[in-house]
Amino acid sequence: MKIEIAPSILSADFARLGEQVAEVEAAGAGRIHIDIMDGHFVPNLTMGPAIVAAVRRVTRLPLEAHLMVERPEQFVEAFARAGADVIEVQPESTYQLYRVVTHIRELGKRPCVAFNPATPVEALVEVLPYVDQVNVMTVEPGFGGQAFIPSSPAKIRRVRELAPELDVEVDGGVDESTCRTVTEAGANVLVAGSFVFGHPGGPGAGVRALREALTRTGA
Ligand code: DX5
Ligand code: ZN
Repeated sequence: MKIEIAPSILSADFARLGEQVAEVEAAGAGRIHIDIMDGHFVPNLTMGPAIVAAVRRVTRLPLEAHLMVERPEQFVEAFARAGADVIEVQPESTYQLYRVVTHIRELGKRPCVAFNPATPVEALVEVLPYVDQVNVMTVEPGFGGQAFIPSSPAKIRRVRELAPELDVEVDGGVDESTCRTVTEAGANVLVAGSFVFGHPGGPGAGVRALREALTRTGA
């Protein structure tokens, strides 16, 4: 399976967002990951559909909107309209996961379930036939720059066994030292925020460094 890097703009310099998205695109990023937080589901506030629409205008890459919001069903249409290609919802945030996932599909977008570190894999089994992607959170969602939770690879492996055909994404604490562990466990989409945008050589160099780390390790 092809390994894709998905830079999370949560750690970008927002005053230079267009420029930084262009840099990661030129460096070979596969998609752009946009973290939407509402201050309720997670203790942080970030971006809304206007940012997705703005990024849509500056890149050809697929955009994924990771909704860390309560009752995501209220917002999926707005993010679809803004130009998100993948819409990620958390099972912990809604009473109607099946409905929201099928709604995303009806809107012509790719549904993804993203789930918290303490949520068991079993919580997803019933919706797997209706999604294109699973996001295994490898930190507690809410902030960039947190440490990778060490028990995550076993969970990634279980998800990959249940979903051999789907995109399996990991999100949180991905850097040069953890990227190999997650791809070996079966992940094929790697979200990276602080590593890419905090790289001393700039975000393009961050993407290249991650790609090189994967190549060095045979991914
Ligand atoms: C965390 C977000 C992540 C975050 C990852 O709640 O879902 O996408 O940006 O950031 P890093 O790569 O810094 O852990
Ligand atoms: Zn995310």
